[in-house]
Amino acid sequence: MPTFDVSTASPAEVSADLLMLPFYQGRKAGPGVAEVGKALGADLMATLQDHQVTGRVGDAVTFPTFGKIAARSLMLVGLGPKDEADPGALRRALLRVAGRASKFARVASALHQATGDRAESLHAFAEGLVLGAYRFDRYKQRPIDDASKERTALKKAVALTDGSPDARTLKAAMRRGEIYANAANWARDLVNTPALDATPEFLATEATAMAAKAGLQCKVWTKAQLQKAGFGGILGVGSGSVNEPRLIELTYRGGGSGRPIAITGKGITFDSGGLSLKQPEWMETMKDDMGGAAATLAAMRAIGELKPKVDVIAAIPTAENMPSGSAIRPGDVLRHYGGKTSEVLNTDAEGRLVLADALAYLAEKKPALIVDAATLTGAAMIALGQDVAAVIGSDQQVIDDLREAALSEGEPLWQLPLWTEYRRLIESTVADVKNVGNRYGGAITAALFLKEFVGDVPWAHLDVAGTAFSDRGNPYWPRGATGAPARTIIRFVETMAERDGRAGGPRKGRAR
Ligand code: BES
Ligand code: ZN
Ligand code: ZN
Repeated sequence: MPTFDVSTASPAEVSADLLMLPFYQGRKAGPGVAEVGKALGADLMATLQDHQVTGRVGDAVTFPTFGKIAARSLMLVGLGPKDEADPGALRRALLRVAGRASKFARVASALHQATGDRAESLHAFAEGLVLGAYRFDRYKQRPIDDASKERTALKKAVALTDGSPDARTLKAAMRRGEIYANAANWARDLVNTPALDATPEFLATEATAMAAKAGLQCKVWTKAQLQKAGFGGILGVGSGSVNEPRLIELTYRGGGSGRPIAITGKGITFDSGGLSLKQPEWMETMKDDMGGAAATLAAMRAIGELKPKVDVIAAIPTAENMPSGSAIRPGDVLRHYGGKTSEVLNTDAEGRLVLADALAYLAEKKPALIVDAATLTGAAMIALGQDVAAVIGSDQQVIDDLREAALSEGEPLWQLPLWTEYRRLIESTVADVKNVGNRYGGAITAALFLKEFVGDVPWAHLDVAGTAFSDRGNPYWPRGATGAPARTIIRFVETMAERDGRAGGPRKGRAR
């Protein structure tokens, strides 16, 4: 990973292997382009036309500079329409070009001078560069091609500045972006790792090692300990697998003045559906069903590194959902942590069963609020597609704060209603609640199930079934895990800490 720095050198004078300069849609020059064009003796915007490039976000052309400026190569990077060029556009542009840019050892950039707020832009720049350079190749004996052998030569990324704001502010913004992106990339590694290797125990071991590095407390609950304490949901879902379930508990003490923030995430290391077995094509990507857990772990890692002034607790349930002679059956009743029971009518609606235990456990600790992240329902993906995740909850303030954090991080959320009338759809004749509704409104009935276990703690749930994993890949994300919603949770926690410092903890509000 590169080190990030700032320099007051001018674009034509900065010594680098690659200089990145911005332009806007319609081939409008951004900061630095006129000066460098003059030094090169070239009309750069006209040259773009020859290369059939208009300036959409992440369009890019790289030129050799033949010694006419100090940088050896020049990359012109499109940022879309000038009036829409914001830090989000910069992050998206970097997601597209980072692979190419990171083949150069020393990169200098003036891109952030074209997208508004400098610090926010440099946060996005560092994030986009680190996220965009990510590759998952640890299972490849041979690199895909020779070019990938030269990959990540990137050692140093330098942001060109005119001196304002000060270098310390700018460097801190990049460092923060780097921490966010490294955490998200770790979540991507965990999700991309096949379920053959990424078992509940593996996640627990990774969490323990992370906690030691990030200065967090970590307790891993074994199967025997879960049995003793009555975590029937986690145990039930895990009962069909030879890989035993775990509960991963992490604590960060930031010296906040109020109650802790509680977070959790669904950690199904593989979701076969259990006895309610999935169709093969739906099972293909189900190693991603611990995306919520991975994002929660990644958020805790970043929180440990960023040290916000707030306390954060996480309880992450992890199990493998497999069919076998010891698996739970449709019709079985599970007793969750705290005593509530659920009737399991479909063993493929397993995420809510493990989360129920974790939510009840966290609620017992009387936190200020609870946020959970889960690849919970195909219904959320049908409703919102793969770019936007669903947020549903009992507290409008928490929902709004999450939406804002998500938007800043380019992981957009859309609110679905916690439609309490649908509670009747999960009424059970034998237990307190049943684990499936009818065919319709599946993301909402799943959230209503979770709601049963949070008591009166302000709570919001992120259904990231569509966004945690890109099954086809797109211009911004290669096929595989995206790390979502790790960066949203980190940003949310940082915002809460800042507010806590100012006004005494998260505000209260009612859900619409
Ligand atoms: N892990 C799935 C949800 C999912 C689907 C995640 C597609 C990512 C991509 C979840 O456990 C599940 O199977 N949900 C069922 C619930 C149904 C049985 C009520 C679903 O959404 O079909
Ligand atoms: Zn399932
Ligand atoms: Zn699942």
